[in-house]
Amino acid sequence: MVKSRKLSVYEKNQLLKYSLKEADLFTKGELPVEYLTGFVNFAELELKVNQNVLIPRVETEELLDLMTAHALSLKEPISYLEIGTGSGAISLAFFNFLLKQNQILLKEFFSTDVSNKALILAKENFSRLFKEEFLTKVNFLESNLLEKVINQKFNLIVANLPYIPSNKINGLDQSVKDYEPILALDGGETGFELINNMLLQILNKNLLAKNAKVFLEVYEDHNLEFIKEKFPKIYEEFSIEEFKDQFERQRFLVLQKI
Ligand SMILES: C[S@@+](CC[C@H](N)C(=O)[O-])C[C@H]1O[C@@H](n2cnc3c(N)ncnc32)[C@H](O)[C@@H]1O
Repeated sequence: MVKSRKLSVYEKNQLLKYSLKEADLFTKGELPVEYLTGFVNFAELELKVNQNVLIPRVETEELLDLMTAHALSLKEPISYLEIGTGSGAISLAFFNFLLKQNQILLKEFFSTDVSNKALILAKENFSRLFKEEFLTKVNFLESNLLEKVINQKFNLIVANLPYIPSNKINGLDQSVKDYEPILALDGGETGFELINNMLLQILNKNLLAKNAKVFLEVYEDHNLEFIKEKFPKIYEEFSIEEFKDQFERQRFLVLQKI
């Protein structure tokens, strides 16, 4: 047996939980433990993961807090759209929240990704976690950004699109760059290119209902100053709020059309 890696308490607990042995990870380089167990916990849900999707991060749960506050403030039924759903983490956690709030009405629920393999997993997670009757409420759509989304109005849009600047990919931890899908990581030259394209499509297709908000997870450099300088159109068209994550890094943006 080659003992080539020191396991954290979290990794040891995960192995124990899924009846795996520490030795099972020793020969797997820096493989994240979640890809070995096949599961991750996210916002009270146990989600299946595989190497076609990013492992949902704990910070992303904080984006849900911002979204649910908005959902509770809306007077109209929710029309929800996620771009880049991956394992389905955000959408499923938000759907779970909606189920618990029986006074909130749901009008539309779209979860999209450019990766068909990711969508297959997101659908599987939905079927595992929710009653079959709810499957008719949710649309899983394969789409490059908003290409396939037509003639709808949404009052809650969320995206945790790839946001790492291309030249920073090499500097990521090996456990990330060697195992997680590059399609989920590389956000283009500044990391904001895909997000910018998505926001321009939202504007061009006129997808925002009255009182709509767009919730984004972004790279720590993607603050207001950065957007004003590099993406002035976005700065002019939206009022933008910045939020830090639990590690005190600038991480979330909430946009409203001016
Ligand atoms: C950072 S991962 C986030 C996954 C999940 N939403 C989460 O929070 O864990 C980004 C996701 O965006 C998807 N993606 C990348 N480029 C895309 C595009 N052009 N259009 C739609 N989705 C895209 C990837 O396949 C990946 O699932």
